[in-house]
This record gives sequence, structure tokens and C-alpha cells, in this order.
Amino acid sequence: MNVFIAGGTSGIGYALARHYFEKGDDVGICGRNLATMSENNFENLKAFQADVCDTDSIAAAVHSFLNDRENLDIFINCAGSYAEDVAGKISYEEAEEMLQTNILGTVNCFETARKLMKGQKKGSIAVIASVSGILDYDNSSLYTKTKRSVIQIADAYRRALKPFGISVTTIAPGYVDTKKLRELNNNDLHKKPFLTDVETAVSIISEAIENHEKLVIFPAKMKWMMKSLSLLPSFLLNTIMFRKARWMKEDQP
Ligand SMILES: NC(=O)c1ccc[n+]([C@@H]2O[C@H](COP(=O)([O-])OP(=O)(O)OC[C@H]3O[C@@H](n4cnc5c(N)ncnc54)[C@H](OP(=O)(O)O)[C@@H]3O)[C@@H](O)[C@H]2O)c1
Repeated sequence: MNVFIAGGTSGIGYALARHYFEKGDDVGICGRNLATMSENNFENLKAFQADVCDTDSIAAAVHSFLNDRENLDIFINCAGSYAEDVAGKISYEEAEEMLQTNILGTVNCFETARKLMKGQKKGSIAVIASVSGILDYDNSSLYTKTKRSVIQIADAYRRALKPFGISVTTIAPGYVDTKKLRELNNNDLHKKPFLTDVETAVSIISEAIENHEKLVIFPAKMKWMMKSLSLLPSFLLNTIMFRKARWMKEDQP
């Protein structure tokens, strides 16, 4: 199989790339800065420098990877931008990057993959959203709102691409123990509930793609917590979530 992973140079994307490579698949990955790859002591992946916010850039990377290969079997978009925007304020630049990567980047990835897969009449596309995007409440952070958009965008592409035999799987993970998450939390993840290790995440994600699942929320405890919260009346949910939204309190005069 030919597998391309946008945002495959570190974290969840990189771990997925290793998984498919070790299974014997042909794997291409991309990121904006390939220098980070040097930390990942694994040179057998075909790596391309590309930015998902630039549609020509991501399309060129996937075309270079495919070269004379016949089909694009799996396209996974792991490229995402996140910051600790529940705990505090983020800068304009961080907000801009989050909006661009998580919304525009998601659309660019879907567009690139669907153009290649439409003629094949088969293929699987997956995107990493976040469990935080499952709930709908007033004072959610910008990250949460962008990931909620990712879930909606994926729903729209799933509906549109179904007649062409292309499946769309949305992944909504809780906290996954990656270097990026550790960097954002001064290497202290003990307050992150239901933390999942990256190998477990890879196994859940790859199985969901193989089974053409629509939406996968993990870990199970986080999923049931979100499901329970979603049953609450909106005023109560808003009140509970406001307690967490320190960024919002800081915004008030
Ligand atoms: N870790 C968690 O707890 C968690 C939980 C829920 C959801 N997620 C989501 O899972 C995804 C991966 O998270 P992670 O923890 O593995 O983060 P990560 O290690 O920072 O991985 C992000 C990857 O995306 C690439 N990337 C970022 N912006 C890009 C752009 N504009 N164009 C191309 N590539 C880009 C990064 O490489 P470059 O920076 O070099 O471009 C990197 O390869 C994200 O979408 C995140 O929101 C993570």
C-alpha cells in the first residue's frame, strides 16, 4: 500500500509512519522542517518538505511521493497546531498558526487526497481532530473550536466522497504522550487525565482506518466523560467549562 502522512515528521504522525513502514507499506511523510527528523533515528521514510497551509506545496509533496506508483491508498493528516490556550492567553501569531494549520491545512489535505483518489474509486483519508472538539459549549478555546471545525469538515468530505468509494475517518484523541505535549507542559503530564501512550494511539488509529470507521474517540474513559458531559443542559455545561477557561477570565477587564 502507498501511505502518505502529512505532519509525519514527529509525534503521532511519525509513529504512524513507522507503523506502516514496518508493516511493509511504502510511506511518504511531510512537515515544514525536516531538520526535526534527525531526532528520529529512522531514515527509511520518504520525507518531503511541505506546508499544509499551501495547497501547491502539499500537492507537490504527494505527487513526488507517488511518482510512478499507481494509487494513493491512505492519506492521513496529522499536521496540527496546538498551544496551552485553555490555561492562558496565546499570542496573535500562535492563534494565526492554529487557524491556518488546523482549518485551511485540513481543507488543503482533503482537496489533495480527494483529487488523487477520485479516479481510483477507492482510498482512505483520515484526519486527527481532538476529543476537545466533540463538545459544543460557548467558552471553548480557539484550539477546541478549530478541532470542532475539523470534525465538521471531515463529515462534509465523508458525505461527498462516499459515492467514489473513498472513506473518511475522523480521529478524536484525548491526551497522547508526545514530545510536543511534554514541551508545552514543562515535561510534566501528571495533570493530564487518561493519558495515552503513542503506541496505543497508533494501534487504535490504524485499526480505525482499516475498518473505515467514521469517528473514533479515545481513550474510552475520555469518550464516556465527553458523552456524559454532552447530555448536560447547555447552561450547566457552559458553567462547568467556564471554570476551566482561565484564558477567558484573563480576557475580562
Ligand atoms: N498529543 C496530543 O495530546 C494530541 C491530542 C489530541 C489531538 N492531537 C492532534 O494530533 C496531531 C499531532 O499532534 P502531536 O502531539 O503528534 O504533535 P507534533 O509532534 O507537533 O506533530 C505535528 C506534526 O505536524 C507537522 N506540522 C505542523 N504544522 C504543519 C504545517 N503547516 N504543514 C505541514 N506540517 C505541519 C509538524 O512538523 P513541522 O512543525 O516541522 O511542520 C509535525 O510533523 C495534531 O493535529 C494535534 O492537534 C494531539
